[in-house]
Amino acid sequence: MDYFLISGGKRLRGVVEINGAKNAALPIMAACILCEGEVTLHGVPDLADIRSMELLLNKLGVSTTREPGNTLRLKVEDEMNCHADYELVRRMRASVCVMGPLLAKRGKSQVSMPGGCAIGDRPINLHIEGLKALGAEPDLIGGDVILKAKKLTGAELFLGGPFGSTVTGTANVMMAAVLAEGRTVIESAACEPEVADLANFLNACGARISGHGSPRITIDGVKSLHGCEYTIIPDRIEAGTFMIAAAITNGEIRLRNCKLENLLAVVDRLRHIGVNIEREDGDVIVSSARRLEPIEVTSQPYPGFPTDLQAQIMALLCLADGNSVITEKIYPDRFMHVAELSRMGARLRKEGPTVIVEGVKRLIGAPVMASDLRASAALVLAGLVAKGETRINRVYHIDRGYERIERRLIALGADIERLSDASEE
Ligand code: EPU
Repeated sequence: MDYFLISGGKRLRGVVEINGAKNAALPIMAACILCEGEVTLHGVPDLADIRSMELLLNKLGVSTTREPGNTLRLKVEDEMNCHADYELVRRMRASVCVMGPLLAKRGKSQVSMPGGCAIGDRPINLHIEGLKALGAEPDLIGGDVILKAKKLTGAELFLGGPFGSTVTGTANVMMAAVLAEGRTVIESAACEPEVADLANFLNACGARISGHGSPRITIDGVKSLHGCEYTIIPDRIEAGTFMIAAAITNGEIRLRNCKLENLLAVVDRLRHIGVNIEREDGDVIVSSARRLEPIEVTSQPYPGFPTDLQAQIMALLCLADGNSVITEKIYPDRFMHVAELSRMGARLRKEGPTVIVEGVKRLIGAPVMASDLRASAALVLAGLVAKGETRINRVYHIDRGYERIERRLIALGADIERLSDASEE
């Protein structure tokens, strides 16, 4: 199993190109089930999760061809299979995104109910309620959610839950509604840029969606969708992670292909910490002049601070000059990184969904364990600045969401190595 060895203390300097967004690419790939004709997607990152989605789509009769430069061609060849089995869904929760398209195009979807995961409970009740409102009949057999509908009909529905809306739930309902008869209005829809990107893709295929990017999305059903050529938006979480890498190492990184307008909550928090963020010639330059101010951060649905950067900003705030308060409002249990950062000398006190971060002068390298994608990114960031050597085990978690991160960090001057250890379980 692969692990990273990092010798901390190098200032990162240079240019990094931000890849297409994983969380936009995954539902857009699933949406290809709806299309008649070939789809060409540009900016599809080469990640473990993307390969899992390819595998799932292949099993569902969609051919995928990868071309150099992160281009992926997809085409429906066979519409017989409607089953996303446990093996695939267990590996990647975003597999659930095939539910809406299968139901709308093939009249049936059978998707294994995702179990718990490292960041906490992740139910899909809102997905099912939304699809039911369009006319689907749900059943649960052998751990699979089965949805059937001879015909879907537009409806007005509400997708809010106790933690706000649902990103992939909004995607599922929107994908089903594009082929439903009549108008669907999703109230309390997720406003995340990845949902808006999916809507833009579907419109490029002939769908009639408006209001995406706001909490009220209107979809007028059409008879069919055609193929198209489309470029995935840049990954705001990857961009935010590299911004924090510049800040934590007191370095200077120029980000190419970064949509700063999708990161305003992150920019706001980083500027309060004392990080400089400037636009120049279409790029974003992030630098830090060291003294880091403590702040309060609360993760919220977009346009609030993203939960997917909560762990990374915690790593940064470990080194601020005072006490910070981080509150997680999306996944109250998403704190697996707390114990690992503490092994590196961080002073963290967890109280329910809040962590009090007492700034320390330095972090100290240690062997730590990656538990999920974003927690692993936080450990890498901590390792980049820690005194001495940090060993991060189970880096397959980070490969799910960051394309060859060690190579890109090395290009920026980091001392990080990927090694393999057969005996590590
Ligand atoms: N929720 C419900 N019922 C539902 C669905 C969600 O109560 O039916 C709750 C969840 O438990 C959570 C909140 O609503 O508390 C938001 O969950 P959401 O459904 O929005 O999350 P998701 O769609 O499963 C996506 C991203 C996650 C990201 C979250 C929140 C993808 C593939 N995944 O997940 O990304 O953290 O939105 O922004 O888009 C990651 O990339 O590391 C990652 C975990």
